[in-house]
Amino acid sequence: MSITFYEKTKVFSLQTKNSVWQMMVSKYGHLLHLYYGNKIPEGELSYLVRGINRGFSGAPYEAGEDRGYSLDTYPQEISTFGVGDYRESCLHVVHEDGSQMLELLYDSCRIWQGKYDLPGLPAVWAGQEEAQTLEIVLKDKASPVEVVLYYGVLEKQDVITRACQIRNRGAGIWLERALSACLDIQRNDLEMITFYGRHTMERSLERGMCRHGKIQADSMRGVSSHQQNPFVILCEEGAKEEWGECYGMSLIYSGSFLAQAEVDQLDQTRFVMGIHPQGFRWRLEKGETFTAPEVIFSYSERGYGKLSGNFHRLYRENLMRSKYRDQRRPVLINNWEATEFHFTEEGLVSLAQDAKELGVELFVMDDGWFGGRDHDLCGLGDWKANPAKLPNGVEGLARKIHGLGMQFGIWIEPEMVNEDSDLFRAHPEWCLRAPGRTPNRERGQLVLDMSNSQVRDYLYESIGGILKQAQADYVKWDMNRNLSDVWSSACPADRQGEIGHRYVLGVYELMERFVSHFPDILWEGCSGGGGRFDAGILYYMPQIWCSDNTDAIERIFIQYGTSFGYPVSSMGAHVSVSPNLQTGRRTSLGTRATVAMAGAFGYELDTRKLSREERQLVKGQIRWYKQYQELIFGGDYYRLTDAEENREFAAWQFVSRDQKASVVSAVCLHARSNPLFWRVRLKGLKEEGWYQVREERMTDEGPLEGKDNETSKRECLICPGSALMYAGVNLPVFWGDYESVRYLVEEVRHQAE
Ligand code: GLA
Repeated sequence: MSITFYEKTKVFSLQTKNSVWQMMVSKYGHLLHLYYGNKIPEGELSYLVRGINRGFSGAPYEAGEDRGYSLDTYPQEISTFGVGDYRESCLHVVHEDGSQMLELLYDSCRIWQGKYDLPGLPAVWAGQEEAQTLEIVLKDKASPVEVVLYYGVLEKQDVITRACQIRNRGAGIWLERALSACLDIQRNDLEMITFYGRHTMERSLERGMCRHGKIQADSMRGVSSHQQNPFVILCEEGAKEEWGECYGMSLIYSGSFLAQAEVDQLDQTRFVMGIHPQGFRWRLEKGETFTAPEVIFSYSERGYGKLSGNFHRLYRENLMRSKYRDQRRPVLINNWEATEFHFTEEGLVSLAQDAKELGVELFVMDDGWFGGRDHDLCGLGDWKANPAKLPNGVEGLARKIHGLGMQFGIWIEPEMVNEDSDLFRAHPEWCLRAPGRTPNRERGQLVLDMSNSQVRDYLYESIGGILKQAQADYVKWDMNRNLSDVWSSACPADRQGEIGHRYVLGVYELMERFVSHFPDILWEGCSGGGGRFDAGILYYMPQIWCSDNTDAIERIFIQYGTSFGYPVSSMGAHVSVSPNLQTGRRTSLGTRATVAMAGAFGYELDTRKLSREERQLVKGQIRWYKQYQELIFGGDYYRLTDAEENREFAAWQFVSRDQKASVVSAVCLHARSNPLFWRVRLKGLKEEGWYQVREERMTDEGPLEGKDNETSKRECLICPGSALMYAGVNLPVFWGDYESVRYLVEEVRHQAE
């Protein structure tokens, strides 16, 4: 049993493999948080609760002279506004009479086998045997508002999920904020790790101490954003890959969000997470329910390496639904960086044919195939082939690609419209913009009102028709701007505060329709690269284009940051030209592939321009990736270097689930004269297993053999896993920046003979 209810003390205990979450119903009926942290196999912790009478922290009326009992100082499971807890609130309602209080008291609970799901929202799913659900009903002291807290306990995955529903059984109320979850931790020595960035430079890690007052990561862009990510870590000061307590929190949501940590007057830390309250205002009529999105919690007692592993496994096994989460994904070529908008059917077929000869399996036609789309100022919304480029329609091109024995993929950007489009001319009211104002433009485009079901029906019909006719095998779903001017013509004035969230619900509804009607399509999310890289999208699509930055060296850092919260199988990564189109940096073809192979791999360049030698290299890369993809996607991923500290080289590793095989990659970031002895310590191997280590060096000439005087010594190292993990492997002396090396590690026998 992973959920226990101690009747006498009214304590709930949620147990996962390595963690425990406890809460209790207090003597006055409030739901107090007790503990979340390292496993305590038995017993309840109600003894932890104590009150001290102090000034300026009042007590509920019922507590009478029990003045130490204060909602302002006790840890809460869900914090509410207006009743004396002055820290950050999760819930804030305005009742019909204008009063703004919500004091939640325990009513009932239910424990059941299996995991709850959330209507209209992505959520972790689990089989009956894999999870248990605890449902707690709380009722407002004075109004017919009820709040239901859901806890999903996935014991084996070391994960607890939380969600919350607000039900209104009386006269209409306004929800001014509805954050999903709160975690009150009675300590003040925590750092918050967040992942900030910008277009083409997503998810850089940043850490800082939580302090009195509030720090937060948030997005008010209508999407999860390039700028911050809805995955954050709270950790013991100085935590590392393998040291320090860490809490990971991921919001399964693709819209504006808030993740905030606050240290209060008593040195306790409150963490809250959910839909960003700015601009949010939801009307809840009698009998209606509002569902806040799910937050995933995981805890590691030894560093964030383990935490990442928990999230990776959970996403692969209990969040992604696509059949491609388990199937080998095709190596693709995408024409965007090769042609941008300027292509013809003939040109695309010739590129595909060429790529096919190299071993590429899927051809993806990117932006520019529809409407009058010769540049980015027109065409969005007109989901019909441009006859000047595709005289035989998408279908005709797809037939030719399929005829080559390749799969066919296509780019779409359903949520957008250009003013210069037939769609906009016919339905100017279908985009987000307020009456009497000119809207903000980004990339020359406006945002369609995804809260409007007519818009979604149009998109489903027009795009769905093309996918069907073309028998598409892959779709890249892009979204190239953020939301502003959030106002819907389909919604009354007093409900405009709902549109930001209704937009996200609309996107999810449309995605659900598409993925359930086209389950064999491999779907890839995208928003100018990684501007909507979140757990919500991964519920619908198993991979997301990680960044518009395809520079291998910059990608090391972007993929490093992304790996904290997301599995490598979710990161679209391509080999592009050198010098790189975003940075001008030159890197070898080998290194570009080494980096892109730590993701859903493909090419994004004109392969027809490759030299004979390069073509041989590409063929080898594709063969290699096909052989190792299962290990890379299905195995465990380890960061071997700290990208923030080590600017000399970067290294990472994949280990098969059975620990029999591993691939290690390292890239030199800064070649040195009179070099130091660089060494990496591997992870995840069997201590007692014996492994053979083969080195492959990547240069422009391909794997380099015998080119430096040390190679022969390292060529085939055989030693125990303990040696590789505790003593490490020597990296070669690199000649030149951005050289890379790969180690293939295979178990040769189980024990020393
Ligand atoms: C976005 C994507 C790119 C490409 C372009 C096309 O920027 O991230 O990969 O598809 O749009 O306009």
